[in-house]
Amino acid sequence: MIAQILRDSRVIVNVGSGGVGKTTVSAAMALGAAIAGRKSLVMTIDPARRLANALGIENSAFGSDHPFEVDAARFAEAGVACDGRFFAMMLNHKETFDRLVDRYAPSVESAESLKENPWYQQMSTALAGAQDYMAVSRLHELVETGAYDLIVLDTPPTANAIDFLEAPERLMGVLNFQPLQWFQKHVSDEGSQAGRLLRWGGASLLRALGRVTGREVIDDVSQLLQELGGLYDGFRLHAQETEKLLRAPHSQFFMVTAPQRTSILEALFFQKRLLEARMPFAGFWVNRVPGYLRHGEGWLALVNETDLPSEQAIEVALRGLPSMQGEQGALGTIARELRAYHRFVYAAAELAHREIVFLRERAIGKPFVGRLPLVNEEIHDLVGLARLSQTLLQGGVAPTTFPDSEHST
Ligand SMILES: Nc1ncnc2c1ncn2[C@@H]1O[C@H](COP(=O)(O)OP(=O)(O)OP(=O)(O)O)[C@@H](O)[C@H]1O
Ligand SMILES: [Mg+2]
Repeated sequence: MIAQILRDSRVIVNVGSGGVGKTTVSAAMALGAAIAGRKSLVMTIDPARRLANALGIENSAFGSDHPFEVDAARFAEAGVACDGRFFAMMLNHKETFDRLVDRYAPSVESAESLKENPWYQQMSTALAGAQDYMAVSRLHELVETGAYDLIVLDTPPTANAIDFLEAPERLMGVLNFQPLQWFQKHVSDEGSQAGRLLRWGGASLLRALGRVTGREVIDDVSQLLQELGGLYDGFRLHAQETEKLLRAPHSQFFMVTAPQRTSILEALFFQKRLLEARMPFAGFWVNRVPGYLRHGEGWLALVNETDLPSEQAIEVALRGLPSMQGEQGALGTIARELRAYHRFVYAAAELAHREIVFLRERAIGKPFVGRLPLVNEEIHDLVGLARLSQTLLQGGVAPTTFPDSEHST
């Protein structure tokens, strides 16, 4: 099913709370699609520096929001066979905003004057919802070009994941409710009571502000608001189109979550919101799931999909060595430390497992729930990403079976 989504969708949006792995999973998905032969693009937001570097977007594209192709030489170097083409880009909110202004301002002069306004730059990033809105706007622009088979959108780390979904609406709200714009509208209505009152109120307010902040600032700000008012209709249309794009059958939303209660509760809440908003919900990815393998008498951490003890396990054991003077000697200490470590890994794996059972029980419908393993190192190069892509294409790792646990998935 997942392989099919990566093969057939045109847009995939990965949402989730901060730090759960949205950027990593997005890059691995787009890479997975490229490995499977498609022309894919990942739109990242603030990727970790080393990942950006591995994708070739660290230097070349910084400050610009255009897609760059990860060239074949990098794949060859990493020993990754890729039948398709893989593009990556970093979102740049200001450039996206500039282009929207160019497109929707009533005239070229108005667009230029707006962009030259000293308050414009601040406003384009500080407006509530503006960054999220820019992300979906850029997605819309790139889908319109028809240049990619699949675009995977990473989303910004929001304190509350639903902010993203409501971004167009929120931004429209802010643009629409500009007190000064409101003044203008009513002030121009000569005859009305409100008009008279506001003409007086507006003028005295501006006078009062002028005394505090200086006439120039007031002029700049009111000019800015006037010009923004001119953009409103265009932006609204654009927001509607973007929403339509996100709802289209070839778009899919995945919720990325950690196997922890707080993250899962947020994921469940967001699934509900997505369904209420009639967005196409494809399922959950539980990322960084700790696993274990039964090995002889003990348990071994499942690390990088091999059954070797992890470096961490050995490190922990070695840290115990100074206290080895006990009767049993070094080997006894190491064995004890390893057993303690494995008990810890087992407990962590079992807890994660219970959390995934909880997610399954509480999720609406019977959605897809995939597991992505906690790997030993940060995922920052094409090899690590490609490994995660393979796991993604297979629908994630199989659930661990816990002989001592009554839970099963
Ligand atoms: N399955 C995994 N195993 C181990 N490390 C992982 C895994 N997935 C992601 N990471 C690491 O976790 C860190 C955070 O991941 P990532 O940047 O993708 O999260 P994010 O959700 O995009 O964060 P933010 O909300 O800040 O944008 C990165 O260093 C990444 O390499
Ligand atoms: Mg991120």
